[in-house]
Amino acid sequence: AKFVSMASPTQTKSNSGVEKYADINWDELGFDLVPADYMYVTKCGKEEYFTNGVGNIIPYANIAISPFAGILNYGQGLLEGLKAYRRDDGRVLLFRPEQNAQRMQTGAERLCMPSPSIEHFVEAVKQTVLANKHWVPPPGKGSLYVRPLLIGSGPVLSLVTAPEISFLIHACPVGNYHKGPLNLLVEDKTHRATPGGTGDIKTITNYSPVYKAIAQAKARGFSDVLFLDAVTKKYIEEVSSCNIFIVKGNVISTPAICGTILPGITRKSIIEVALGFGYQVEERVIPLEDLFDVDEVFCTGTAVVVSPVASITYGDKRVEYKTGAETVSKKLYDMLTGIQTGRIEDKMGWTVEI
Ligand code: COI
Repeated sequence: AKFVSMASPTQTKSNSGVEKYADINWDELGFDLVPADYMYVTKCGKEEYFTNGVGNIIPYANIAISPFAGILNYGQGLLEGLKAYRRDDGRVLLFRPEQNAQRMQTGAERLCMPSPSIEHFVEAVKQTVLANKHWVPPPGKGSLYVRPLLIGSGPVLSLVTAPEISFLIHACPVGNYHKGPLNLLVEDKTHRATPGGTGDIKTITNYSPVYKAIAQAKARGFSDVLFLDAVTKKYIEEVSSCNIFIVKGNVISTPAICGTILPGITRKSIIEVALGFGYQVEERVIPLEDLFDVDEVFCTGTAVVVSPVASITYGDKRVEYKTGAETVSKKLYDMLTGIQTGRIEDKMGWTVEI
């Protein structure tokens, strides 16, 4: 089947020419689940290829899946996350969607699944956003978070690729992931990723193993946890859902991509934005001690965007960092979100209009 054209959902202007929006309170968006109306679905056999243009936009609903599905039993699946922003003039922009497509391809290779072409992925994301255009928040109120999945949906018993792979895209309007600057707790007992593992791909199985550490940190009043490398426990790696940066003077550093770090698209973009501002950027191994002698710390990710860190606690040591209007992270945040929302000219060619 080809993409089905949607009649009413793409009709976002009423007769009066005023944008039509879904009926929710746009001022209260957080990161809570409010599923948009339509989703994208396509499938292929494990020995087949996804065919460009083959897929359907259908009403958002539960999907039927075998209890033996590869994703349910063995976690054969990848997720992606990207955002659609509404410009002041009403046009809708995606941010670097081809980067998500590429990352899905890398992950699919690791998990032995066929994956959609970059063109197919980007087109399917566009179709999903277009069908849900009334869920793209008004300018300044947030974004439509788009969640592509690639999953082993067919039944399987032994440790082999599921006979059927599904590529799905669903969406949800979101505001801020965190309320205010983060207070992080260094977690040294459990690890997010190990060398040779899957920390560098966006597999579904990277996420629930951090729930317990987050819950324990939250119970102690922290916002999230900062993981250390699993081998030496000496180097900082990532926060549960995002990459981390430290700032000292004119130098901005972030853990180098080394197999256990998720190659974040916001991470990559912030590095380029920072270089553009004239900062020196280092991708390197970062010893835990470095955290105790820096001006600022911030996190980056699609969901968290650029989130300042107010403090980091490790055992009985607590360090506080500069946050607020006069910070490097605010400057980077303003530039990044300015480009994403079309308020600042996109000289990088990162945005894709729908
Ligand atoms: C994202 O930032 O898009 C992620 O996938 C992280 C997730 C925990 C919301």
